[in-house]
Amino acid sequence: MSRTIKFIVVIILTLISLYTIGSWSEQTVINYFVSIISKSINPTNSTILIADISNKSSQKLPENFKIGISTSAYQIEGAWDADGKTPSTWDTLIHSHPELISDGSNADVASDSYHLFKDDISAVNSIGLQFYRFSISWTRILPNGSAINQNGIDYYNKVIDECLANGIEPVVTMFHWDLPQWLQDLGGLPNEIFIDYFVAYADVLFKNFGHKVKRWITVNEPYNYCIISYGFGIWAPAIKSPGVGDYLCGHHLLIAHAKAYRLYREKYFKMFGGEVGITLESPYYIPKDSSVSDKDHQRALQYRLGWFANPLFGTGGYPHVMIDEINERSKVEGRPFSRLPQMSEEVKKLILGSADFLGMNYYTSSLILINKAERDPREEPSWFSDSGVKESADPTWKQAKTFWLYSVPDGLKSLLNWIKNEYNNPPVFITENGWSDEGQMIDDDRIDYVNSHLLAVAEAVNEDQCNVIAYTLWSLFDSFEWNSGYTLKYGFFHVNYSSPTKEKTPKKSVE
Ligand code: BGC
Repeated sequence: MSRTIKFIVVIILTLISLYTIGSWSEQTVINYFVSIISKSINPTNSTILIADISNKSSQKLPENFKIGISTSAYQIEGAWDADGKTPSTWDTLIHSHPELISDGSNADVASDSYHLFKDDISAVNSIGLQFYRFSISWTRILPNGSAINQNGIDYYNKVIDECLANGIEPVVTMFHWDLPQWLQDLGGLPNEIFIDYFVAYADVLFKNFGHKVKRWITVNEPYNYCIISYGFGIWAPAIKSPGVGDYLCGHHLLIAHAKAYRLYREKYFKMFGGEVGITLESPYYIPKDSSVSDKDHQRALQYRLGWFANPLFGTGGYPHVMIDEINERSKVEGRPFSRLPQMSEEVKKLILGSADFLGMNYYTSSLILINKAERDPREEPSWFSDSGVKESADPTWKQAKTFWLYSVPDGLKSLLNWIKNEYNNPPVFITENGWSDEGQMIDDDRIDYVNSHLLAVAEAVNEDQCNVIAYTLWSLFDSFEWNSGYTLKYGFFHVNYSSPTKEKTPKKSVE
């Protein structure tokens, strides 16, 4: 039997069982059947972006390579207190400190995906993409840590069913930074109680949605979340504890992720056969001049990506440079133990290998210098002073509206190669890549950015045999951009925020 026929037989059997157990109506089954068949015949039918790379370049992406688009719950859903949902730390922070958001806005309504999710999926469908990565709002599902809120379950069932009915695979992130306020009240990520609550939450998600969701991402970007939320104290919950709180946050996130992964493998994998991974993020670091030796360069990448990737995909545990150096500094600071938490052999074993794929968000790269000057131990510690990394941009790189975002497609290729060499070529699922501008409908810079990055991916796959399996655009809509409010536009669709029905209009990139 050819692979296509096998694939169609499996689809038909799955549809019959969904229909028989009553979770799908006859019409949903028919819609799904029609769209999946048309997508399997022409998986990239209407995207100009993808057409560009496959028509104009000699580089082709492998046939089974998937392309999708991404959003996150807090940035699009709105309905911040609807149907039993309780506040996340972002709701709390923004309501009490609107001055922290550059345009004074909030995401109470956002693009109102809670009510208009069908528009979102129809937008994804209109550009012919194969999957939609979205995240689940924890406090819709577990408003106070104990009882499950059926309204939340119903809502995400509708979103998932709508994806499937349109032949779009739902790729679900469990935690994209909207931590329950009730959990922050117990200490949030720096408290190890986070682990048990996260695993209990993951269990609810696997149990309720596992028969329909086959690709799970536990956490989005532990590095940025921990450094900015619990280090700088700029993102919610705005706890300022650099060099201490951020390392604790990372430690508990890694353990929580690994326990959720093990839970899936033990309790759900046989039944559902899905995959669970995590999304990390890193620029590629390029030495700015010859003062950065090869050793310095490797050390810097270990601090950045290796902090999370080495425990999961590398040799196990934190990179040795981090363990040794932070331990030494902590002693000099007069501390009784290292600011970087210790991992027992048992915990190292739990974490190592606990991901079926490596999710990577890639936006930009940077030139680096290393500050090797002796640090005054009385100064406030931080990841930045521990690593000594000083980032800057090459003046020839094209800059987006976001201050740190430059177009460096070669950096993506180098990063994919570094991952391949360092971690034995794990499957890499690029979970975000995108460009911000002023919101113009003729978004030529976005088109260039995506095409050049897709080309870099194709080269990494074809020339260097990097095991990249998928690529995800960020973002479906111009959405709420954390502390920048609505001032930075990353969307492929414009949203009319002044209208109650939030009409979406495709920009040139996806017309
Ligand atoms: C985050 C998104 C954010 C994007 C652009 C990513 O790091 O996952 O939530 O909108 O960057 O800043």
